[in-house]
Amino acid sequence: MEPRIQKLQEEFKKQFGSDQDTQLFQAPGRVNLIGEHTDYNEGFVLPAAIDRSILALARPRKDKQVRIYSRDFQNLFEFSLDKIKPVKDSWGNYPMGVAEILQGEKLKLKGFEAVSESNVPVGAGLSSSAAIELVNAFIFATFSKLKLDRVKMALLCQKAENEFVGVKCGIMDQFIIALGEKDRALFLDCRDLSYRLIPVQSEKVKLVITNTKVKRSLAGSEYNQRREECGEGVNLLKKKLPKIKSLRDVTPEDLAEHQELLPETVRKRCFHVVMENDRVVKAVEALEKNSLREFGRLMIESHNSLRDLYQVSCPELDLLVKNALSLKGVLGSRMTGAGFGGCTVSLVDEKAVDEFRIKSSRGYQKETGKVPEFYVCRISDGVREVKS
Ligand code: GLA
Repeated sequence: MEPRIQKLQEEFKKQFGSDQDTQLFQAPGRVNLIGEHTDYNEGFVLPAAIDRSILALARPRKDKQVRIYSRDFQNLFEFSLDKIKPVKDSWGNYPMGVAEILQGEKLKLKGFEAVSESNVPVGAGLSSSAAIELVNAFIFATFSKLKLDRVKMALLCQKAENEFVGVKCGIMDQFIIALGEKDRALFLDCRDLSYRLIPVQSEKVKLVITNTKVKRSLAGSEYNQRREECGEGVNLLKKKLPKIKSLRDVTPEDLAEHQELLPETVRKRCFHVVMENDRVVKAVEALEKNSLREFGRLMIESHNSLRDLYQVSCPELDLLVKNALSLKGVLGSRMTGAGFGGCTVSLVDEKAVDEFRIKSSRGYQKETGKVPEFYVCRISDGVREVKS
């Protein structure tokens, strides 16, 4: 990490004079191990924070100005905490949205100046934007001495994304970035936000993320459509199951019994969500018993369901998963995140990782002409200040 920090310090001096009194903050990206498109249905998810992150070197100001230079976009974004208005298509909407929502809670914010740099790939389904939100929320909380616990911080960042940026995401990404811990996956109940950290033994088996390099262009509109289809499913099922509030309340048996109430597309969406919730619970049991084979099998089922029932995969993701499963030492593989491009996550025997990279890369290039990227990741801590 040293060279990254050094570059931040140099840039800080260039942008703001000296780098005296600066503090360093870090927020990770995330990978979801299983439980896809379940969070906004009040279901279960099992994400982990990864060792790719945004770093921000920051210093408080006495006035109400916020000035952030992004090394990734090579762009200085500046706003006053007294005059917040969204700017079309700018990364600056993430920090500004967070400020707006925090102030909406009657929290008094101080301005700051910062330089940031991220190695979470953008548009790859690893939550680079939620990481920007959380690192800025954490900076505001530290400099303005806010009484804000991590769960509340996650909720407010989600609110910023929903209301200010205009993306109707669930709580998973912000929650794991706020509360993730090293070498642990986080089993979250998205209804009441109760959670449990589950140790992941990563010496023998590695989590390998593979980036299709297909940007998630369709994700926004299709994402909202899926949400609506799930809502429609709940409304129709209520005729026979009046007590349900969300798909979370529907058991696989209930759904099988009353499926004739649902048009075909909605039925498929509902089956995915209901069975995926069930898979998350089983995956946690498998992890706790250190039964990685079973965990891998559930990952494969999850991918098939996302491809065939929820229909959020794409040919490139399917190709990566298919090729991965044909290789030695691969226990499981699936798309991760919203879909329509982005990344897969695979569980690979440590000894087979090199061959996995070479062979998957070769197969993928041959069929798509694109060069995939690999991130063999370690599970990391959530957002924090890094003491140097
Ligand atoms: C995106 C959203 C999350 C979640 C996933 C799909 O990452 O931000 O809230 O819905 O898609 O599981």
